[in-house]
Amino acid sequence: MAMALVCFFSLACGAAAAAAPPTVLSRIAGLDAKLNSSRGGFAWVTGIDEKDLETKAQVSLLEDTEVGFPTLDSLLQWAIGHSDPEKLKDSARETMRLTPEELAKRRADIKELMERLKMPSDADLMRIAIKDLKNSSLSVDEHKRALDELLELVEPIDNANDLNKLGGLEAVIDVLQSPEEDIRVAAAWVLGKASQNNRLVQSQILQMETLPALMKMVTATSEEEAVKALYAVSAVIRNYPAGHEAFYEQGGARLLQELLSSSSTSQRLMKKALFLVADLAEQLAEAGGGLSSYVPEDELVESVVQILGSSDLDTQEKARKPLEALMALKSLARVGSTHKTLKGVSGLDVALEKLRRTLEQLMLEQDHVELARDMEELRKEVAASLQVGRI
Ligand SMILES: *[C@@H]1O[C@H](CO)[C@@H](O)[C@H](O)[C@H]1NC(C)=O
Ligand SMILES: *[C@@H]1O[C@H](CO)[C@@H](O)[C@H](O)[C@H]1NC(C)=O
Repeated sequence: MAMALVCFFSLACGAAAAAAPPTVLSRIAGLDAKLNSSRGGFAWVTGIDEKDLETKAQVSLLEDTEVGFPTLDSLLQWAIGHSDPEKLKDSARETMRLTPEELAKRRADIKELMERLKMPSDADLMRIAIKDLKNSSLSVDEHKRALDELLELVEPIDNANDLNKLGGLEAVIDVLQSPEEDIRVAAAWVLGKASQNNRLVQSQILQMETLPALMKMVTATSEEEAVKALYAVSAVIRNYPAGHEAFYEQGGARLLQELLSSSSTSQRLMKKALFLVADLAEQLAEAGGGLSSYVPEDELVESVVQILGSSDLDTQEKARKPLEALMALKSLARVGSTHKTLKGVSGLDVALEKLRRTLEQLMLEQDHVELARDMEELRKEVAASLQVGRI
């Protein structure tokens, strides 16, 4: 595959064509000879409508390549595969007899062909993926692949902004209800990715009333589904007051409370939940009363303290949970009313003191000294802001 492309370029650039292996040369000469520049090249080769051809080539390439992005190389292979071998041989002989002027003209034609074959735009690729996703006669694997492609495509903010215009948001939201877990997970992931730091997509998802469905998914028994759903929920409401309100109105505080207090919540999910608690508290603190009706309940605050008190720090991985809990406490301490609640929670002083002693021990171990120092910094900050325990 790579060889064909290299030789194609060599010929186009005027390098010694005779040095190329005969098969490759004849293929290229054939393709070259079939070019009819009076009608604009490539479409003439196959005799089908140019627009149709481009779409077909893109679709077939999407099917051929693993990541789903077509390459010029595979497009050439596709074109070569559609040529007649006998005619190719003839035109290869013909090419040898060309005058320098004729050769230069052919090279110019090939250059034009190269430009016509340039990569399809992201919008084209999104259109194809969305069309595949909506096509109910395609398999689950093909739908999954369309979602994987969208996941990559919506990363740049301009593409994410286009998603709704192209009908993609609706298509992805629709498959949140798929009976296939893989599809639901991938769909939630795409929604999260598209709405990350993107006010437009956040508001679109909110208007389509998709938040409740995502929140319900957070309670799924599959860890992967719950984690991706919570990721999407967090992305949709992050730094977005209307999103926060919708989250609380849909019972978000209770959802978080359940996650934090349940023994079946996985480490990954717990981490994300604590992160969201911190994020919500930060937002409350920033809003300075603007969101005052959405203050976390005492139980939620108590759960965070409990997580801190019951965590051990045996391994770096386990230490992430109390670390996230500390960060959540730091943020909760910034909000007037939860600050007050925190000061009254019994066991906070005990939990902070236990943590201080564990960190003291941990600092003696070479492997953990950095983590221990960072956590002790954070512990001190929390202790100072709440004036609880040793500072
Ligand atoms: C190129 O295309 C034009 C217009 O379709 C046609 O009249 C002409 O005969 C073609 N040239 C060759 C070499 O086939
Ligand atoms: C759906 O996919 C099938 C199978 O690939 C295809 O034949 C059909 O044309 C597609 N439908 C649409 C509307 O694209």
